[in-house]
Amino acid sequence: MPVTTQQLIQWKNQGRPIVALTAWDYAIAQLLDKAGVDLILVGDSLAMVALGYETTLPITLEEMLHHTKAVRRGVKQALVVCDLPFLTYQESIAQAIHSAGRVLKETGAQAVKLEGGYPEMVETVARLTQAGIPVLGHIGLTPQSVHQLGYRQQGKTESAAVRITQEAIALAEAGAFAIVLEHIPDDLAAQITQKIPIPTIGIGAGPHCDGQVLVTADLLGLSDWQPPFAKVYANLQQSITQAVVKFSEEVRDSHP
Ligand code: KIV
Ligand code: NA
Repeated sequence: MPVTTQQLIQWKNQGRPIVALTAWDYAIAQLLDKAGVDLILVGDSLAMVALGYETTLPITLEEMLHHTKAVRRGVKQALVVCDLPFLTYQESIAQAIHSAGRVLKETGAQAVKLEGGYPEMVETVARLTQAGIPVLGHIGLTPQSVHQLGYRQQGKTESAAVRITQEAIALAEAGAFAIVLEHIPDDLAAQITQKIPIPTIGIGAGPHCDGQVLVTADLLGLSDWQPPFAKVYANLQQSITQAVVKFSEEVRDSHP
């Protein structure tokens, strides 16, 4: 049975951890799905890891739709979630419904993710949910705000911790089916996880979240740079380089 948003909430209640990873094309998505990943996020981090941009800001909705269609074709089981890119949902509720609606209609992804827990974004999440569009929230370090926040840990002061906790509660009340908590202190993530009825999916937020997500290029050792909290599980840059060098040697050595 394919994973649903309701299933994720049940898993939180059962204490069964949620495994999430990012994908940007058919090949990677198929591997993740076959390996049993629960949630596959077409993160706008693909702007950096697959398209070579310095931040996530330049990617367009058209580009996200293109990648999400490819990912969707590789997935049979996992829940597929597509990031709404910068300035395709912040302008107005109508803009958010239009962008998120295109994701569901044109790609077959089952949900969207958007960044922020401030009151206007909470209202947007409520309206998307009412329109039948499942939303994954994302608070703490939000990379679309990199020019304001940098990539620094968030929620370190008491007032920031209170604000992030209130954002999580408000997003859950607005109907988000889960929330990504990025780069906040472990104890803050643990408290939020206890307080809200929907799953928290952490990245650099400690072990107490209901699930964990990583950028797959970081996990595989494919990216040029990864944040300090991203554990590297393989060195694909090295494997690929070795394979290419071996092929090059064979071509050159066997030339008559
Ligand atoms: O774009 C992305 O990969 C993300 C995850 C890090 C949560 O938003
Ligand atoms: Na993202």
